Order: sequence, then structure tokens, then C-alpha cells
Amino acid sequence: MDDEYLDISLRLLDPSDVDDFMVWATDDKVSKFCSWDTYTSKQDAMSFIVNVVVPHRWFRAICLKGRPVGAIAVTPNEGHESCRAELGYVLASEYWGKGIGTRAVKLVASSIFFEWPHLERLEALVDVENSGSQRVLDKVGFKREGVLRTYILLKGRPRDMVMFSLLRTELHCLFEEFHESVTVIDKVSESLNGL
Ligand SMILES: CC(C)(COP(=O)(O)OP(=O)(O)OC[C@H]1O[C@@H](n2cnc3c(N)ncnc32)[C@H](O)[C@@H]1OP(=O)(O)O)[C@@H](O)C(=O)NCCC(=O)NCCS
Repeated sequence: MDDEYLDISLRLLDPSDVDDFMVWATDDKVSKFCSWDTYTSKQDAMSFIVNVVVPHRWFRAICLKGRPVGAIAVTPNEGHESCRAELGYVLASEYWGKGIGTRAVKLVASSIFFEWPHLERLEALVDVENSGSQRVLDKVGFKREGVLRTYILLKGRPRDMVMFSLLRTELHCLFEEFHESVTVIDKVSESLNGL
């Protein structure tokens, strides 16, 4: 794998990133399995960044050399569901298949439980046909729990979704599985320092 894709970082996404955001948000290949429709206007993208991204509890740009090439978010729940949060991510199609998605999910999974002490379960819902996203979660160590039939409307069509989860109690497996606990813990510190 090309070394230039190994060095990713996560940072806040802000209105000045709108042109980079437009690269993936205007791409039908990227939005295919996402709840949002492909963006056609920069103004709509700016409204999304200002009204949704900026106030979001945990939304980060996935950056290569400091430039956003995608985004990753953890959306918390409230009340008696606050023990769990949902992970979502997108990457500009030009960068698919280079390990960036796996690396970004691994970074978030290994840091979010430290950042949010109340969090016990990180979950992700993936369309049954979204093989790339399922493979990313498998590789990071999420457990495939099962298929939720006719669970959401995706672009007006009822879809079956695979439920994946990673529990706080399984974090040590994630570290051991990848034999890189030192690297991961270093990255956790770096990403916490960068917040
Ligand atoms: C899902 C997504 C983030 C994957 O990111 P990525 O950086 O391309 O993934 P990686 O390069 O880390 O690949 C991980 C694995 O998935 C495989 N993979 C990637 N895309 C695939 C595809 N379309 N079909 C089958 N396998 C695929 C890779 O080969 C790799 O497996 P391997 O290591 O065994 O070879 C990216 O495809 C994307 O942004 N898709 C559109 C948005 C989306 O669907 N988001 C998720 C919503 S749940």
C-alpha cells in the first residue's frame, strides 16, 4: 500500500472546508447507501456544515495532509439509550480501496470510549449491499449482530440493514487483534490532544 495514504488525521470540519466537502457530497457513488441525497448546491452544503456539522457532538473531517477527503461522526443517544452511539462515515470515491476508511474507523473506535466514559456500545447500521462498509467494520473488529429487515427507507425504498457493534468490553480484542496497541494508544493520545 502507498505510504501517502497511511498518514490520516481527524479534525473538526468547518465552513471553510465546504469545497472539499462538495467533492464527496456531490458524488452519487458516495451517497448511494447514505440517508442524504447527493448535493447539487454549495449553499445547501454550507447550510449542512453550519447547522448540523458545527453543532454536532462528534463530527470530524478525515484528512490527508490536513485536507478533508471524507468525514466520520459518532452520534450519541439520550437518556436510557445513552450507553450507545451510532458511527457513520464517508470518503471521497477517489480515495476508496486504500485502507483509509478502515484506519479512520479504527482511530475513532479506539478513542471514543476513552473520550465518552458513559459509552458502552458503538454501533453502525449498514445496507446489506454495502460490501465495502461491512468489510471495514469486520476488519476493525465490530461484531455482525444480524440483519434488521425492512428497517429504513433509503431514497424511498425499504432496505434491509446489517447491525454491527463494538462494546467497550471488546476494546482489548481490537488492540490485540491488530498487534499495534502501542500505535493505537499513541494515536488515541494524539487525537485527544487535537480536540
Ligand atoms: C465505505 C467506505 C468508507 C470504505 O472506505 P475505504 O477506504 O474504501 O475502505 P478500505 O480501503 O479501508 O477497505 C476495507 C476493505 O473493504 C474492501 N472494499 C472496499 N470497497 C469495497 C467494495 N465496494 N466492495 C467490496 N469490498 C470493498 C477493501 O478491499 C478492503 O478489504 P481487504 O482489506 O480485504 O482488501 C467508502 O467506500 C465510502 O465512503 N463509501 C460511501 C459511503 C458509505 O457507504 N459509507 C458507509 C455508510 S454505512
